[in-house]
Amino acid sequence: MGSAERLRPLLLAVFLLGLHHSSGFWILNVVFPPNAKLKQAPSNSTPPLLIGKSIIDKPTLVHWLCYKKTEHWFTLWLDLNMFMPIGVDCWIDNVRLTYNRTNRQSSNSPGVQVRVPGFGQTYSIEFLDPNKLAGYFYTMVQHLVNMGYTRNETVRGAPYDWRLAPNENDDYFKKLQDLVEEMYDDYQQPVYLLGHSMGCHYILYFLNHRPQAWKEKYIKGFISLGAPWGGAVKPLRVLASGENDGIPLISNIKIREEQRMSTTNPWMLPSDKVWPKDHVFISTPTFNYTNQDFQRLFRDISYEDGWYMWEDTKNLTSDLIPPGVEVWCMYGVGLPTPITYIYDENFPNKDPVDFVYADGDDTVDSFSMSLCKRWIGQQEKTVHVTEFRGLPHLDIVFHEKVLNVVQNILEGNLDTPVEVDV
Ligand SMILES: *[C@@H]1O[C@H](CO)[C@@H](O)[C@H](O)[C@H]1NC(C)=O
Ligand SMILES: *[C@@H]1O[C@H](CO)[C@@H](O)[C@H](O)[C@H]1NC(C)=O
Ligand SMILES: *[C@@H]1O[C@H](CO)[C@@H](O)[C@H](O)[C@H]1NC(C)=O
Ligand SMILES: *[C@@H]1O[C@H](CO)[C@@H](O)[C@H](O)[C@H]1NC(C)=O
Repeated sequence: MGSAERLRPLLLAVFLLGLHHSSGFWILNVVFPPNAKLKQAPSNSTPPLLIGKSIIDKPTLVHWLCYKKTEHWFTLWLDLNMFMPIGVDCWIDNVRLTYNRTNRQSSNSPGVQVRVPGFGQTYSIEFLDPNKLAGYFYTMVQHLVNMGYTRNETVRGAPYDWRLAPNENDDYFKKLQDLVEEMYDDYQQPVYLLGHSMGCHYILYFLNHRPQAWKEKYIKGFISLGAPWGGAVKPLRVLASGENDGIPLISNIKIREEQRMSTTNPWMLPSDKVWPKDHVFISTPTFNYTNQDFQRLFRDISYEDGWYMWEDTKNLTSDLIPPGVEVWCMYGVGLPTPITYIYDENFPNKDPVDFVYADGDDTVDSFSMSLCKRWIGQQEKTVHVTEFRGLPHLDIVFHEKVLNVVQNILEGNLDTPVEVDV
């Protein structure tokens, strides 16, 4: 067995953008998490790793009626009730956030308490539900265990409430800092942070708000997987007409209710600092919306709170201030990814009728994800960029070739390939 003292801790900070229900993901990975390949001879020099992701606990129930109905379904589908035609209303009610334009704060529905379970452990990020049907980071964590990591010890998770942007999540960053320091103290080695998708913005925000001396001492590196550095186009569709990502039985309009409550969707809109001002993101028979027209867009889709949420969150990470630690920026390329949604006169209450595509990972375009290249030369620490050709957005957390690169980094072979075919 590898001796735990020698392992460099790893914190997995995994956060998704409302992008977490892609059909490929649910069908291929949720029900049958791919098995991590078993490796002999665990290395005893693996550095600690911290993974973060977003999850909320099943909150107290608002209606006894919901409880009745969900109880019936939940023997098998606990917490996956959102997939059930009956459960979805209760689920939406439970995760509902109310936004107050005056004080610009979100709060839970009365009677609902939400807490993020499993902070510092891995079970909460390995599976999205207690019955372990929805494998998320399971494959990666198992791969790490096979190379000598120990769950809850040298590899830990840092889940967060995915409904809130960093400006409303101060507590999370304090807990994250404490966890990093605790792992450093336990293993006497600086920690790697690993994020997925929106989680990478969470880590960037965290690092941008820590002094350089703190980062030098505690952080070994930042591994970012599929980060939409310049924002993503998809949340525009999500907010306008909803997107069930192939989950059967839930209409896009129904899921839109939930998707409009979170301040993280407006936060992730395509940044006006990097996208051309004349790029049309949403085209309708009456108007072409660019990033100069968000206020009008929010008004036209009857979601004016979204404008305020966007104003509150748009500057949190959009300046892409270098993180000040060594970075491994990895993302998928080579797949058609919508960058313009074209609607007919039923906008915004029907799905788009056509798309304009650009290169990307099927969810985020490669222009946005490649913006980490800006940091090369902007900071002293090295910035490594690896593009995985043909790799979809969600597969990046469990694809064998990605796991092998991550393993190489953690084992100290810091140079990574520039391009990998999957
Ligand atoms: C919104 O916040 C303001 C200021 O804190 C408060 O006076 C008002 O009652 C709140 N509105 C609602 C609907 O809670
Ligand atoms: C990690 O912690 C969770 C929650 O306390 C526990 O259920 C699980 O068994 C632990 N895993 C290991 C490998 O110790
Ligand atoms: C939107 O842009 C398209 C493509 O440039 C153009 O054909 C169309 O007339 C524009 N629509 C409106 C309402 O301006
Ligand atoms: C956000 O940044 C823009 C320009 O980068 C600036 O004009 C604006 O005042 C900032 N907004 C806030 C709320 O800080």
